[in-house]
Amino acid sequence: MPSTAEHKENIPEHIAIIMDGNGRWAKKHGKARVFGHRSGVKSVRSVTEGAAEIGVKYLTLYAFSTENWNRPRAEVTALMQLLVSTIAKETKTLSKNNIKLQAIGDLKSLPASCFQELNKAIASTANNSGMTLNLALSYSSKWEIMEAVKELLTDVKKGKIQDDEIDEAVFKNYLCTKEIPDPELLIRTSGEHRISNFLLWQLAYSELYFTDKLWPDFRKDDLLQAIDDYNKRERRFGKTSEQIATKK
Ligand code: FPP
Repeated sequence: MPSTAEHKENIPEHIAIIMDGNGRWAKKHGKARVFGHRSGVKSVRSVTEGAAEIGVKYLTLYAFSTENWNRPRAEVTALMQLLVSTIAKETKTLSKNNIKLQAIGDLKSLPASCFQELNKAIASTANNSGMTLNLALSYSSKWEIMEAVKELLTDVKKGKIQDDEIDEAVFKNYLCTKEIPDPELLIRTSGEHRISNFLLWQLAYSELYFTDKLWPDFRKDDLLQAIDDYNKRERRFGKTSEQIATKK
């Protein structure tokens, strides 16, 4: 396995990750679920650092889904506190590594402390020009698509756009990810083979990589392994192998 410094393969511009398995990891170690989330932060650090080192431009992490609000209140509170403290603690390191922080999701539904800390970190890293770390918080893809449809309808009603002008490129501009290219690679940890309401539009042609490792055990070397696997795939976008070989 090459180290990040000598990793010379084709690096995806955008990698999205469903960080799953914190609860099972905690159970395996005889601890409360929140212990798994805390350990998961170490993986976030390692993977973010690794991705930035090898030249990934965008890293999107599914940190809290709309559906996660239905977890026991104590776990939701602990997760929100962990997000606030992690964001506050890591802002300086993000800037030291020239990383810009962004977030997608129904951010107004976050507790005020979380929303404020997040906005502070986004503002203080806004001029960094290296990798963008994009946190999906209170995010679900169906929510995002519905919001996009509503906003688009409003613009049609206002006459800002005509209904016969609506196409994929126009629709993309109403999504939270309008400024970001679609991910070439999606990674999901913990052995689950599901998309779980994450970036449904954006993942249309992404390569999917599943690993049995639980998120707190996933580190930058595992990221490199996922990229190695991605490099063995042939991305055809609906064309034939022959067309890809001759670049038609
Ligand atoms: C899924 O594991 C993980 C989450 C719902 C939370 C992810 C959050 C972190 C890793 C910590 C904070 C992150 C940042 C970006 C600062 P699970 O609880 O569903 O695990 P299980 O399926 O084993 O129960």
